[in-house]
Amino acid sequence: MTEPTSLSAAAVAVLSAADPIEKVRLSRATAALWRSGELSGIGNALPPSRPQRPERPPLMAPRDVPKRKINQGTKGRVALLHALAHIELNAIDLAWDIIARFTGEDLPKAFYDGWVKVGDEEAKHFDLLAQRLSELEAAYGDLPAHDGLWQAAEETAHDLLARLAIVPMVLEARGLDVTPGMIAKLSAVGDAQSAAILQIIYDEEIGHVACGKHWFDYLCKRQQRVPQKAWRELVQRHFRGALKPPFNEPARSAAGIPADFYLALELDRNPESLNRP
Ligand SMILES: [Fe+2]
Ligand SMILES: [Fe+2]
Repeated sequence: MTEPTSLSAAAVAVLSAADPIEKVRLSRATAALWRSGELSGIGNALPPSRPQRPERPPLMAPRDVPKRKINQGTKGRVALLHALAHIELNAIDLAWDIIARFTGEDLPKAFYDGWVKVGDEEAKHFDLLAQRLSELEAAYGDLPAHDGLWQAAEETAHDLLARLAIVPMVLEARGLDVTPGMIAKLSAVGDAQSAAILQIIYDEEIGHVACGKHWFDYLCKRQQRVPQKAWRELVQRHFRGALKPPFNEPARSAAGIPADFYLALELDRNPESLNRP
């Protein structure tokens, strides 16, 4: 890669790469340069409003994306792995976007260390899924994919606290809720390799949610806001749709989000959930 002059310039290069293989390569290479200290300045390069995407897969409304049923043979598993690869590709961009978009916020180096690690791991996750797809004689790009994943980034582009409230603390936390069920189903149909990949992703995603919560708390303290109240207000303002139980309480609390944080919010929206067993 041409030597980036700053971390934000390197982040913009990741966001501007359309080819997923190149995006993964830049993400991992930038993380290595940052870890080694060869790259150390943050700079103030501006990220594009939307990251570059490859021509394939075609993007379409979620309702038009074929449903993935793990028990429908290889085809069903390919559809699931493809959908997850698409989410990881977006996650790579979300990590580098948070790095480049908020450089004016006077954040400590540890903030960048955390999100660089997330960007590195998201690239690894995409890579693992893409390799598994090729073992199943498929590839990322073969199937249509969801076009709404950048919406949360646009909705929160003006406000770091809102970004943290929604992307890691709602969307990635939701991943913690649903992944164990997918792992169990993949194991039940005998696909131990895919299950092992999802286990790696799951374990590392706890760290991503934890990174989000850590910096959310840090900013709340700086802004003299009460974290639970601030999160509730931001989710109500910026997240369309409800938080969906059941929640993976052990994983969420391992990431530093206690149950009362999100149960109160769910109750605001679904008072009938009180009656649920
Ligand atoms: Fe991931
Ligand atoms: Fe993640």
